[in-house]
Amino acid sequence: MQSANQATAFIHEAVPRYTSYPPATEFQAAFDPAAHAAWLAQVPSDQALSLYIHIPYCDRLCWFCGCTTKQTRRYEPVAAYLQVLYKEIALVAKHLGRQQAANDNRKPRIARLHLGGGSPSLLRAEDMRALRACLDRHFDFDDGAEISVELDPVDMTPASYDGLVALGLNRASLGVQDFDPLVQTAINRPQSFEDTKAVIDHLRSLGIPSVNIDALYGLPYQSQDRFAATLEQIISLRPERIALFGYAHVPWVKKHQRLIPEETLPSPEERLAEARLARQRLIDTGYQAIGIDHFALPGDSLAQAARAGRVYRNFQGYTTDPCPTLIGLGPSAISRFAQGYVQNNPATDAYTRAIDAGQLASSRGLPLSANDRLYGWAIERLMCDMKLSYSGLTEAFGAEAQPLIARLDDLARGELSSLCRLDDQGLALTQHDGFVARVVASRIDRYYNPVTERFSNAV
Ligand SMILES: C[S@@+](CC[C@H](N)C(=O)[O-])C[C@H]1O[C@@H](n2cnc3c(N)ncnc32)[C@H](O)[C@@H]1O
Ligand code: SF4
Repeated sequence: MQSANQATAFIHEAVPRYTSYPPATEFQAAFDPAAHAAWLAQVPSDQALSLYIHIPYCDRLCWFCGCTTKQTRRYEPVAAYLQVLYKEIALVAKHLGRQQAANDNRKPRIARLHLGGGSPSLLRAEDMRALRACLDRHFDFDDGAEISVELDPVDMTPASYDGLVALGLNRASLGVQDFDPLVQTAINRPQSFEDTKAVIDHLRSLGIPSVNIDALYGLPYQSQDRFAATLEQIISLRPERIALFGYAHVPWVKKHQRLIPEETLPSPEERLAEARLARQRLIDTGYQAIGIDHFALPGDSLAQAARAGRVYRNFQGYTTDPCPTLIGLGPSAISRFAQGYVQNNPATDAYTRAIDAGQLASSRGLPLSANDRLYGWAIERLMCDMKLSYSGLTEAFGAEAQPLIARLDDLARGELSSLCRLDDQGLALTQHDGFVARVVASRIDRYYNPVTERFSNAV
């Protein structure tokens, strides 16, 4: 009990979410854009790629939103943006082709495509079809390629489904956040349970085999009782996956979050209680917990991968995707290469100017050092497995891993003894609350500086 109390002392900390290591806050503006082109050219031509496409528009603006998006009531900016995106797809594909043998006419392969945003669901059906046609011109989709799209349920029209089918959708992710009317008003996001259910029913009638729901704790006016009611509604929909995020309140970055009065937000203690209640209820109703904030039905591929220790962390959260190359397209999209990270310019204007001039749109990046790979590997395993195998570390990094292992031993015996312990495999987290992995990761993060940087709350 005392150890649990000591552990909760850490819930007031602000630490990164570690969807990458080093975190995106460390990417450098001084990054040489030629490296982007070189890394694209060096992607092995037989490697099946993962593609992320960012749609930076929404037809509504939720006040809690932390995504890179802009509200638009007109479709023209979206249509104009798609024309630029098509050029970027062609440009990136051309760079990828550079090192293919002269007599090799094969196109680069795609194993996974994810459309995020913003709200890709606001694309018109003919544009989803055109996007797929553009991708088909420049890439070959693997048989069984995973094609996932983030959908705002209130966008969905009968035509949207035709567009999604044409795109090849086989995994849908729906934003829900909370069904409580008081909470919805406070975050400017009206959305009924009935409409959301109708979207899921329709997707299932089309044979879409996997649906994810995003839910948020820590929202204004939420309480354990209110959130428990939302959770029961979500569970009744039986989505294959649930992402249970803690609301990241960062009004110094996202100005519209100032529309949410601070005094309506639950305290860190209340946030922890909501997260724990949700976690337990989801486990009790048959979901398997994955990493810090994901849940999946046991037959789902993410749950299967988690049981085999083969879940990975990327900018969308958790994935079964082992591909070392993730190519991000669109403003703010991040690409991951074996050599390092590259981020496109987040400003749509600057992004458009670069692409229209025939240049790659990267504005920041970071080449990975040997230490970044070692610490990044350890942090990814901690965030995915809630433990870290020392033999795994040594197998992957040899003697280089020794200083890190010594550091972890010190932490487990000292400052973080209430959060982790040593066993015959290595280091294990004593609790699976999401904040625990983030706090432990922050102590081995060689860039983390709580004085100069501000992150969202750990819990
Ligand atoms: C691009 S949106 C999902 C698709 C669609 N735009 C929607 O809202 O339904 C991505 C998800 O990020 C999460 N999210 C957005 N802002 C957040 C914040 N400030 N803190 C934590 N999660 C956030 C929400 O759960 C949201 O569903
Ligand atoms: S939560 Fe989704 S719909 Fe709402 S503003 Fe953010 S990206 Fe757009």
